[in-house]
Amino acid sequence: MKVLVVGGGGREHAIVWKLSQSRFVDKIYCAPGNAGIAQHAECVNIAYSDIRNLASFVERTDIDFTVVGPETPLSEGIVDYFNSRKFSIFGPGREAAKIESSKIYAKEFMNEFHIPTASYVSFDSAEEAIRFIESHDLPLVIKADGLAAGKGAVVAETLEEAKDAVRRAMIERAWGDAGRKILIEEFIPGREISVLAFTDGKTVLPMISCTDYKRALDDGKGPNTGGMGTISPNPNIDERMKKRIVEEILQPTIDGLRYRGTPFKGVIYPGLMILNDEFKVLEYNCRFGDPETQVILPLLSTDLMEIMLHIHHNKLDEAEIEWMDNMASVCVVMACGGYPKRYKKGIEIEGLDSIRDDRTQVFHAGTTTVGDKIVTNGGRVLGVTSWDRTLRKARDRAYNAVRKIKWDKEFHRNDIGQNFVES
Ligand code: AMP
Ligand code: GLY
Repeated sequence: MKVLVVGGGGREHAIVWKLSQSRFVDKIYCAPGNAGIAQHAECVNIAYSDIRNLASFVERTDIDFTVVGPETPLSEGIVDYFNSRKFSIFGPGREAAKIESSKIYAKEFMNEFHIPTASYVSFDSAEEAIRFIESHDLPLVIKADGLAAGKGAVVAETLEEAKDAVRRAMIERAWGDAGRKILIEEFIPGREISVLAFTDGKTVLPMISCTDYKRALDDGKGPNTGGMGTISPNPNIDERMKKRIVEEILQPTIDGLRYRGTPFKGVIYPGLMILNDEFKVLEYNCRFGDPETQVILPLLSTDLMEIMLHIHHNKLDEAEIEWMDNMASVCVVMACGGYPKRYKKGIEIEGLDSIRDDRTQVFHAGTTTVGDKIVTNGGRVLGVTSWDRTLRKARDRAYNAVRKIKWDKEFHRNDIGQNFVES
């Protein structure tokens, strides 16, 4: 098969890397890809949100199957458009993707189908939002309604932080139209977990568990980012809990979406908080996580393309998905100084060639090639992933590799997975 992967980040590098091991896949293209993806796929210079041009490419190149990485093209209807042209594609349609692309829509959906979530109020006026904040106890969580690359939620501890978050989203429009409306949510303390699952719209099969480290700095300090690292499996999640997550969250979500006439096919990934043995959904994502995918896929024993084909043919109930037993993986994100705010691009990355470890894979996110050099081209630049028999060993491997890679103003967290390793 000829496969096109849409996107050009660390998640897409992990997907391309895994698909390159598939017995079904002969050739992979990636649009737009990056310097690391180019090692396994032919990169095509089309933006991931340029749906018409992607479709023309699929037609011209006779692509058999397209896999979409990022949420933007999904929320803009790439799947609906490809379906209308009879091109096979992996991911939810625009309406189903709304559970990620509008947080207010997701809240209404959860309330209708009794899926536990934090209570909230939505606003389309900054003044009203600020008045609400002034008359409520803190902390509160302020969220832009639309897509904001994982940066649209602020846990505000002080009045000033809360007001700033409203101003940034609604007045400065830091996330464009995504901040036309906001919601203000009750703060839920607890332990955060992410569960990604495959679904064909009817059957839902959770993947191995993981947890991500969202804040920019060690010890959970600094602003929220798209994710600075991940580990898998998450030692806090056992089989009993996973079963409950399927019964209480995943299956009702998939059934609700089907009931509404917007069945969801692809990867669904709720972010959850666990408090006193109860779950609350903080958000839904309608695609693979980034950098969750970078730790999950190295532990997947089953052929990823085979799973995607089962989903495509609505036969996920016939799929057997296997994960490597007794293995753990760790991904440490290496980023550019300034991320998640302003940062420079085009800085040469050194040391990539020195990583020679068959249990380490350096997934590229924001990288590109200039002449024969690999340079930075984004905020999150690399996701250095290692796997081994224990979390501690995987962590040591990953940080050994991180230490060999350098560029000016590089930064990473030093505590990915540390809270789960006995000292
Ligand atoms: P979201 O984009 O909705 O996933 O929010 C980003 C991050 O903000 C989450 O991963 C949590 O760490 C935090 N967060 C979001 N909503 C809440 C909430 N209601 N209570 C506590 N923390 C939250
Ligand atoms: N790591 C968070 C996300 O992919 O949304």
